[in-house]
Amino acid sequence: MARVIMGIESSCDETGVGLVRLHDDGTVELLADEVASSVDQHARFGGVVPEVASRAHLEAMVPTAERAFATAGLKLSDVDAIAVTAGPGLAGALLVGVSAAKAYATALDVPLYGVNHLAGHIAVDTLQHGPLPTPVLALLVSGGHTQLLRVDDIASSITELGSTVDDAAGEAYDKVARVLDLPYPGGPPIDKAAKQGNPKAIAFPRGMTGPRDAKFDFSFSGLKTAVARWVENAERAGDQVPVNDVAASFQEAVADVLTAKAIRAAREHNIGTLVISGGVAANSRLSELAAERCAEAGIELRVPRPRLCTDNGAMIAALGAHVVAAGRSVAPLDFSANPGLPV
Ligand code: KG4
Ligand code: ZN
Repeated sequence: MARVIMGIESSCDETGVGLVRLHDDGTVELLADEVASSVDQHARFGGVVPEVASRAHLEAMVPTAERAFATAGLKLSDVDAIAVTAGPGLAGALLVGVSAAKAYATALDVPLYGVNHLAGHIAVDTLQHGPLPTPVLALLVSGGHTQLLRVDDIASSITELGSTVDDAAGEAYDKVARVLDLPYPGGPPIDKAAKQGNPKAIAFPRGMTGPRDAKFDFSFSGLKTAVARWVENAERAGDQVPVNDVAASFQEAVADVLTAKAIRAAREHNIGTLVISGGVAANSRLSELAAERCAEAGIELRVPRPRLCTDNGAMIAALGAHVVAAGRSVAPLDFSANPGLPV
């Protein structure tokens, strides 16, 4: 019999409640995906302020859940299981979601699953493109993470092949935007400016691509510093900063490194499908270059629509459905949020 799974996400600045239906054939159908973001409250700080995020989750949690049930035309009593992000993320923010999930699970007397946020970013793709082949390679790029993951089973077996040694890709976007006087979060305005610029105008460095560097790790802090120094020099010389060219050249460096390493990992691990997810997956140049390079390498590319790529509750509900289908054990009511939870 089909089951309804509720997903709760609160690891960063998005309060998300998603509802999905797990069908008997294992397919997962999206019923509702409601998100309340506190991003506007963090904008003036140029990054997420943990305490502000926690308070915003507290205020938004129940109204967001109510909206999700209204959208799906369901009642609380229709829920068969609940999944919640247990980590990684901000401690106080995670606690709000975990506490809410425990309260709902207790009141409804349904099983509760604490799941991994990073795995959720991958599982969400099944809502748009159907079941994932195995193995699959995932490139996770957001404000908080930049990772290459090998997925042998979305519910139980994910291996990290590489990750950033310093800034996440989205963090680099946000910091470069600040240098260029563009608003926070920096991804969308840089993406837009880059469309009017020349990606070959400035040769910015490609971090960790030397022969002695770890194969699948990333580094973006050198690139960020190179952009800041370039802009400083132009300003000192009294030149007008060519914002569009800087944005396009920076964006090209990020997309080049991300896609080159992903293709290399897919080849070395003999994996035929690449999923790109997380907020930066919405970047137009990243998906364009990934499509080009995947086609050349004979790799299938799956990129969920932007709405599913950024943090949301549907991704946690989708992962919850796969965990339920796999028969994974239920979390005890005294389980805790784990800010550093590994995949
Ligand atoms: O996944 P997400 O919503 O939140 C987490 O960090 O978990 O990702 C947010 C990040 C921000 O750093 C934002 O600048 C970036 O995704 N981003 C983009 C674009 N849209 C959002 N980066 C590049 N190009 C975009 N179009
Ligand atoms: Zn995320």
